[in-house]
Amino acid sequence: MRIAMIGTGYVGLVSGACFADFGHEVICVDKDASKIASLAKGEIPIFEPGLVELVAANEKAGRLKFTTELPAAVAAADAVFIAVGTPSRRGDGHADLSYVFEAAREIAGALEGFSVVITKSTVPVGTGDEVERIIKEARPDADFAVLSNPEFLREGAAILDFKHPDRIVVGGGDARAQEVMRDLYRPLYLNRSPILFTERRAAELIKYAANAFLATKITFINEIADLAEKVGADVQDIARGIGLDNRIGSKFLHAGPGFGGSCFPKDTVALLKTGQDNDSALRVVEAVVAVNDARKRAMARKVSAALGGELRGKTVAVLGLAFKPNTDDMREAPSIPLITALQDMGAIVRAYDPESMDQAKAHFRDVAFCGDAYTCAEGASALVIVTEWEQFRALDFERLGKVMERRVLIDLRNIYRPDEVTRHGFSYEGVGQGKKI
Ligand SMILES: NC(=O)c1ccc[n+]([C@@H]2O[C@H](COP(=O)([O-])OP(=O)(O)OC[C@H]3O[C@@H](n4cnc5c(N)ncnc54)[C@H](O)[C@@H]3O)[C@@H](O)[C@H]2O)c1
Repeated sequence: MRIAMIGTGYVGLVSGACFADFGHEVICVDKDASKIASLAKGEIPIFEPGLVELVAANEKAGRLKFTTELPAAVAAADAVFIAVGTPSRRGDGHADLSYVFEAAREIAGALEGFSVVITKSTVPVGTGDEVERIIKEARPDADFAVLSNPEFLREGAAILDFKHPDRIVVGGGDARAQEVMRDLYRPLYLNRSPILFTERRAAELIKYAANAFLATKITFINEIADLAEKVGADVQDIARGIGLDNRIGSKFLHAGPGFGGSCFPKDTVALLKTGQDNDSALRVVEAVVAVNDARKRAMARKVSAALGGELRGKTVAVLGLAFKPNTDDMREAPSIPLITALQDMGAIVRAYDPESMDQAKAHFRDVAFCGDAYTCAEGASALVIVTEWEQFRALDFERLGKVMERRVLIDLRNIYRPDEVTRHGFSYEGVGQGKKI
């Protein structure tokens, strides 16, 4: 099949490269000419494990191409995916659909023959109707179907997720369009990933409901962590104790500094807006958003408490800036409000992240960016682990202790056992690890 992927960001690039790897002919389109120029030279603009090799192999095989010329790519395609961004709209938190609608207008002008237009971007329920209307109005003659095919991949494990999804959701379309989707995903459901065909509106809502549910699970265990701290229990025991129940499941039960990233924050807020517009209260999600927002600055108070309640003039070393490991994505990273709050309290901040430092520089002022964890710790009164990169899991505490002003570790991801750290003379503060009463 011939595919045009409109938008070559985290989702468009990974999906395009994976579809090419299945044997389809893929043209990835982006209006960002510098992005396309670097891709054409073999430079990958994002950090995602395995992506450099996957793109190179499929480009070499002639199945994956990059262009800024949307019309030619769309005219030749059997399937046109819309994978442009849907960020929070400034001011009101609705999903900003201007990129989706602009792409729809451009696609309309270029359609030739029967084409399936598929929104892979996360879009509020009803967006497919509007995309269909835009195309119909511009091209009453066009033979096309608009489907919803939300993407569930996780940054940091994106290729694995795309190639081994728990399910593929396809919303809308007649038998002819659904056959195109079956052909596109055939290599996957041969591997037993079920394709779930639904109405288009249900597919659009499935994506938001899934993200809101996962955000709820994280927020739930975070609140239980706070309670555990107060009553002298360990949240990790609680997470294991409830997670072993198959009805609950162990994933997304890691207490930490609150969720961030390119999806959960914007998608939970956009879902609330959809609820309000339809006069349908979503109180659980409202609470999740509020609790999570408050949590990020609360983590700075935790750092302050570990240093006796006074941060002014003290140096704090922050390890991990990206919103999670194995990505360089800084969108809504918990490190941003945390570092800002530390600075508000008068702390001097040093920071290190293995991949996201270039992106991070745009988000902070007066932060000293360092080349590794040990340089970062120099002169620090506290070391704070914010993102659990593998390389932070086996730190040399003797070496750290020698360069630090004070031996204090605040482990916001609970990657260490307290005794591993305290035997090197460090004081240890995790999340939800209540001291024995
Ligand atoms: N990042 C994730 O982990 C993830 C996971 C699942 C779903 N999603 C959803 O997928 C969508 C894309 O997310 P992303 O993280 O890849 O975004 P992104 O910002 O990384 O990439 C979007 C790209 O689209 C391009 N673009 C915008 N308008 C265009 C147009 N008219 N023609 C061509 N290119 C255009 C931009 O230049 C940009 O390169 C969003 O709706 C997001 O919610 C993201």
